[in-house]
Amino acid sequence: SDEGTQESRAPVVTVMGHVDHGKTSLLDYIRKSHVASGEAGGITQHIGAYHVDTDHGMISFLDTPGHAAFTAMRARGAKSTDIVILVVAADDGVMPQTEEAVQHARAAGVPLIVAINKMDKEGADPDRVKNELSAKDVIPEDWGGDTQFIPVSAHTGDGVDALLEAVLLQSELLELKAARDVPAQGIVIESRLDKGRGPVASLLVQSGTLRKGDIVLAGLQSGRVRAMLDENGQPVDTAGPSIPVEILGLDGTPDAGDLFAAVESEKRAREIADFRQEKSRDTKLARQQA
Ligand code: GTP
Ligand code: NA
Ligand code: MG
Repeated sequence: SDEGTQESRAPVVTVMGHVDHGKTSLLDYIRKSHVASGEAGGITQHIGAYHVDTDHGMISFLDTPGHAAFTAMRARGAKSTDIVILVVAADDGVMPQTEEAVQHARAAGVPLIVAINKMDKEGADPDRVKNELSAKDVIPEDWGGDTQFIPVSAHTGDGVDALLEAVLLQSELLELKAARDVPAQGIVIESRLDKGRGPVASLLVQSGTLRKGDIVLAGLQSGRVRAMLDENGQPVDTAGPSIPVEILGLDGTPDAGDLFAAVESEKRAREIADFRQEKSRDTKLARQQA
């Protein structure tokens, strides 16, 4: 059929949590400890997402800017994320943005894994985190609930492997599938106008395979994929389900959370993009006049 053959795919994970609880540090640690040696020092690219190969399987992570996409997608009832890692600092406990993240994940129907971070710090109190989250109905497995709580340190790396294993265990339960042998569809993670290269968009492929040369419609923008890069800035020719890539060739910068799709012709892409731009102008005008 048009929907292609369903195959299992890697989980897409968003890291959320209160300010300064260690989201970026955790993502940085995972990335640094899982890129091929030689590449680690050379990472300057920031595409808002990356994927790692672990001993037990692949995982894709949406970086902090992924939050924007997460929120935008949720607003329209679509999903950018399979699993949320909720980072809670063991010396600080549950804070307002921790609760917000719990509500986000719940509203989106996305399972949580709790990373109790900063376990290396004096004053780390994992039981306090468990208590405070239990009061919000996020109950640890070892207390009879269904949420995995993993103590970690983004500084020493302790517990990080266990966290990745927890993600893959959760992922198996979700039985995530997507077709590879169809035109690509997915979401825009972020985009920017690069002085030399023009519009640059980070995309997460959710189904199908994106190929260099494909014609892509992304939000209000369209264009032919002139170049495609992985998260290390290395050129790639194809990207399958759950793989984040950066593309050049769009005629403008789509918004985080916009949907993208490969379409059959440039003419068709431009027609749809023009139609959407007109509609978006009408909506803005109507709003101004209201
Ligand atoms: P925002 O993006 O600003 O919300 O913060 P964040 O959640 O990304 O936290 P970030 O990674 O920036 O870490 C905040 C501070 O906590 C930094 O000073 C980190 O070095 C420190 N930190 C993060 N993880 C750990 C940890 O495991 N142990 C210790 N001791 N410090 C940590
Ligand atoms: Na910070
Ligand atoms: Mg951060």
